[in-house]
Amino acid sequence: MGPQQCFSIAHPDLIRDVLVVNAHKFEKGRALQRAKVLLGDGLLTSEGKHHLRQRRMIQPAFHRNRIAEYSRSMVEHAERMAESWSDGDTMDIDQEMMRLTLRIVAETLFSANVDDSADDVGKAMTTVTELFNFLLLPFSEWLQKLPIPHTRRFNKARDTFNSIMFRMIAERRRSNEDKGDLLSMLLSARDEVDASLMTDKQVRDEALTLFLAGHETTANALIWTWYLLSQNAQVESKLHSELNDVLQGRSPTIDDLANLRYTESVLAESMRLFPPAWTVGRLAIEDHELGGYRIPRGSLVLASQFVVHHDSRFWERPEEFIPERWETQSIKEAGQRFVYFPFGAGVRRCIGEGFAWTEGVLLLAALAQRWELRLDPTQKIGLNPMITLRPKYGMRMSAHAR
Ligand code: HEM
Repeated sequence: MGPQQCFSIAHPDLIRDVLVVNAHKFEKGRALQRAKVLLGDGLLTSEGKHHLRQRRMIQPAFHRNRIAEYSRSMVEHAERMAESWSDGDTMDIDQEMMRLTLRIVAETLFSANVDDSADDVGKAMTTVTELFNFLLLPFSEWLQKLPIPHTRRFNKARDTFNSIMFRMIAERRRSNEDKGDLLSMLLSARDEVDASLMTDKQVRDEALTLFLAGHETTANALIWTWYLLSQNAQVESKLHSELNDVLQGRSPTIDDLANLRYTESVLAESMRLFPPAWTVGRLAIEDHELGGYRIPRGSLVLASQFVVHHDSRFWERPEEFIPERWETQSIKEAGQRFVYFPFGAGVRRCIGEGFAWTEGVLLLAALAQRWELRLDPTQKIGLNPMITLRPKYGMRMSAHAR
């Protein structure tokens, strides 16, 4: 690709080689390096020892007990959304799902309310998601250097965001209040070795990273799931039966997850066909021999979940939506064979995986319990592979009460 040598790998053994066995020979690819302009040195973009230290400090925020606390807010927001729909409503389900996961991550992370126009943090969070889209534009690294209106808006919004974040961090440090959210965890996390706290800048970078990494991915998983359900009546009716049997009309809770096996399979199968993170990129920092090819230092290696998840060498009837396949094979075992890796692998594996499964299953259960969604007959379907796999033409659907 221009001066950049680029290798695309599509065999599980080679993917394991790059993401796990020889991970130390690689860094993050170009897209994530560019995201540093906004994310600084957060988990997604940092490297080496700094990344490891931060990862250890942040891990407790994703402990099962913490996720159980966040799960209440997940269900509450889903039910509020379910209440707001009316029978026969046609809506942009892609935007609804983005709004839903955004509200959840803003609340679990910062105790912020993105719907309240008086909530500065909530507003700043909404702006920052728009900024991230700017960074994804082709040539954004050059655009960033030009004094054009786009860039001025980006810089202004980033400065406003920073001042709000730093003010909030200072207030929290002063009051020493534990709000039970992720931000409180970040502020009190201590280094294992020297017991130091994170600096304000580190807390800002990590909080922003978790915020951005934590909502668009899950929203996309749900958008594609609604689409697939609307096209597969039998799967949808089996899902409804499970929800009726397990929940019997009450709200789902984290304790129901063990019994919502089919709901989980529906989500797993949807992320097989439409993996929200559809590819991972790595830059070789030293020469490497891979599957008989020489990968020179400085080359880009791409391992695509989308490609492997659709490969008939590893999947029977790969293009079909068959949640039942997860009744005979476990998600974990498919991950260990590297034929299924929606959350990546190795030291850079998604830290929010447990959060995402809990959120995905609970949201699907809470909404599908009350609503069936039908694809608008005029809706075109296409893929828009940005950092996440978005629907190219949106996803207009109508809601029908069950
Ligand atoms: C369905 C939802 C999600 C999917 C498919 C997903 C996917 C991924 C993938 C593939 C990676 C690895 C990227 C790479 O190796 O270059 C990753 C990393 C990461 N994800 Fe997720 N993610 C999801 C949800 C979340 C959530 C809910 C959070 C946080 C609340 C989160 C936070 C992160 C962070 C911080 C990293 C960087 C980890 C590190 O490098 O140590 N993700 N995610």
